[in-house]
Amino acid sequence: MSASASQDERPHSTTSYDAASAARQYELDQRIPQAVPGFDAPFFQAGLAGYSDAAMRIVARRQGCPFCVTEALLDRLLLAGGRGFAKADLADLRESIPGGEEDHPLAGQIIGSQPGEMARAAVLLADQGFEVIDVNLACPVKKIARKYRGGHFLAHPEQASAVLRVVREAVPSAIPCTVKLRLAWDDSPQAALDFERIFNSAYDLGYAWATVHARTVKQKYIGPSDWRFLAELTARYDDRVIFGSGDIWQPEDIFRMLSETGVKAVAVARGCIGNPWIFRQARQLMAGQAPSPPTIAEQRDVLLQHFHISVAINGERLAGRMMRKFGIMFSRHHPSAGAVKEAFVKVKSRADWESVVSEHYDVL
Ligand SMILES: Cc1cc2nc3c(=O)[nH]c(=O)nc-3n(C[C@H](O)[C@H](O)[C@H](O)COP(=O)(O)O)c2cc1C
Repeated sequence: MSASASQDERPHSTTSYDAASAARQYELDQRIPQAVPGFDAPFFQAGLAGYSDAAMRIVARRQGCPFCVTEALLDRLLLAGGRGFAKADLADLRESIPGGEEDHPLAGQIIGSQPGEMARAAVLLADQGFEVIDVNLACPVKKIARKYRGGHFLAHPEQASAVLRVVREAVPSAIPCTVKLRLAWDDSPQAALDFERIFNSAYDLGYAWATVHARTVKQKYIGPSDWRFLAELTARYDDRVIFGSGDIWQPEDIFRMLSETGVKAVAVARGCIGNPWIFRQARQLMAGQAPSPPTIAEQRDVLLQHFHISVAINGERLAGRMMRKFGIMFSRHHPSAGAVKEAFVKVKSRADWESVVSEHYDVL
């Protein structure tokens, strides 16, 4: 799936909306920092499989992102000490790179199919120092649904509630549990009822919040995120902390979603791939300043930071492969975007990355 699939189909106009004044006046719901100390602004970096590793998270945090979610970590891999676990292992990170301690507060997101396994995986993450356990009942990827994971659960409310209950019971009560949902499995009336049951059971079980991506599972990423659905949901449950997701591309979109839908915080997803400055710009808006685009010198710093942290976590070979897709997205900020993108596409090693950076980003 392309990380920028619907960026040009922005459904929500920004012209008549005064994001600057909404941002300046915005008051964070205090239940958020009470649940997660340090979560001090109404936005965060979403889970993004294949992207949101510790390197992307640390870079985002340095630009003002107050809270991050890991990509969905498969319960069985976590229990087997496999790839997902290694990726999430903050202890290694602390040893191998300076700045590993920066990667907090952090939600570890679990995905799986058996309530018992998911609960055991959640406890492992809690033991590793994750501040929040997030349960993924949203992922639309076909092979995931075929194995009865992620978004599949939205069509099976009993099973979804069982997962939510068993995970909440297993995780120490001081650690908040949260859930990622989509607005329903599909457009049918039955699916709407199923969503409602799952959503209610999460809050009844003591989940701190649900993040609702306002597309159906069937819809995947096609078409706009239905912000009206979010507005209706928050109106019906105005005492609940509900987070929103879908179609956040600019810092102004964060405050427009907050004000149009009444959600208490906003997940920034595709809009922050290769664009960690969206977090700085959101904070600038809150401080009454105009959001400033990243200078070439700032871009250079972030490109080098992101690559070096990625090498520390992933090793040079994997970092080379992973960073190509980031480079393509970072190139959009450069005045010669086309040429820079072409150059990033060919990167294989640290030397290649550094040479693209010194050719295109060195400023005198
Ligand atoms: C490449 C990609 C990977 C994703 N991986 C995850 C994931 O692991 N966990 C999750 O909760 N959501 C995941 N999402 C969904 C996003 O967090 C977000 O809800 C969705 O992209 C809608 O927001 P947007 O329209 O602003 O991008 C992923 C989305 C994309 C595009």
